[in-house]
Amino acid sequence: MRLAPQPSAHPLRLIVLLLVLSAGVTTSPVLSTGCPDRCVCDDQLVVQCAGQHLTTFPVNLPLATRQLIISNNRIAELPPLALNYLSDLVYLDCSNNSLTEISESTFGNLRKLAYLDLSFNTLTRIEDRTFGPLASLVMLRMTDNPGLSHIHPDAFAENAALQVLDVSRNNLTTLNITSLIALQALRSVGLSGNPWSCECDNEDLCLWVHLEDEGQTVCSSPVDMQGSRLGEVGVQLRALCHQTLGSWDYLFFVLIGFAIFAAGTVSAWIMGVIMVLYERYIKKKDQQVDPDEEGDILETGTSGSNGNLNSTHTSWLRTFPPTHKHTAVSS
Ligand SMILES: *[C@@H]1O[C@H](CO)[C@@H](O)[C@H](O)[C@H]1NC(C)=O
Ligand SMILES: *[C@@H]1O[C@H](CO)[C@@H](O)[C@H](O)[C@H]1NC(C)=O
Ligand SMILES: *[C@@H]1O[C@H](CO)[C@@H](O)[C@H](O)[C@H]1NC(C)=O
Repeated sequence: MRLAPQPSAHPLRLIVLLLVLSAGVTTSPVLSTGCPDRCVCDDQLVVQCAGQHLTTFPVNLPLATRQLIISNNRIAELPPLALNYLSDLVYLDCSNNSLTEISESTFGNLRKLAYLDLSFNTLTRIEDRTFGPLASLVMLRMTDNPGLSHIHPDAFAENAALQVLDVSRNNLTTLNITSLIALQALRSVGLSGNPWSCECDNEDLCLWVHLEDEGQTVCSSPVDMQGSRLGEVGVQLRALCHQTLGSWDYLFFVLIGFAIFAAGTVSAWIMGVIMVLYERYIKKKDQQVDPDEEGDILETGTSGSNGNLNSTHTSWLRTFPPTHKHTAVSS
């Protein structure tokens, strides 16, 4: 009751309505309050252009557009300039078009975008910075692009709010999950229907895929693993890939063992040679020493002369004191 319209409110509302209607009719280029050709715009800021045989991105979009649905057309390109005017865009459905490329600047200003659908297009590559500016992105659907074979390892690194990622039914053989693992909010990743490679370079992905994952996430190569589920071969791959590493280790050990054996043999040989040489040297020395020993015997034989020397010495000592005595007497 208290919220009953005041009498002055009624004519004001009429004037606003008339203004909006006239704007819709004249499609003022300044305010862009109109609606693109073949699209339906409602007061919830939803612009619906699905299945209208559009070949180009719609022009004259309301600037405040929150939801834009351009699915089921043949649009070949998302023009960065026109798209980035829509800074309030939350929901963008581009599925089932003819998009071949998304450039780094395509989503440059869409900081509020939470839902993006790029399924059923003809994309081939996703580069590093493509989704970087989409800080609020919660759900990204990018399925059924038959030629999509490369997603840059850091393509989703900055989408911290991402909860659901679906890349099913593309042409992916590998996916580097390093940056995906770091996304705290991520709770669902669709991977099925891709020709996955189950080799060592994809070991991380295989280990990451849970066994309870639906049955279509299977290996395409190598031949002996075709049709096996990624979750099943994960553990097998880990053992296999680490065995390959082990054989290098074995080779290393064999080489080290051989080096030690060779070093031992060589040093034993050198020791043997040294010992033989030493023995010969000793023998030679012994032969030279024999004449010396004879000389020693001769020396001991002349010990008599030594005795004579001693006797002469003592005789000299004996003769000394008397001379001293003599001098004492003389003084
Ligand atoms: C894609 O759009 C075309 C119309 O342009 C429609 O005939 C076709 O069924 C759509 N395909 C899918 C998978 O929605
Ligand atoms: C898928 O990728 C392979 C190479 O990995 C290529 O030979 C094949 O043509 C691609 N398929 C499509 C539909 O582009
Ligand atoms: C995955 O990408 C990161 C860089 O983002 C790189 O360091 C790492 O080696 C890659 N892993 C594989 C298995 O290629």
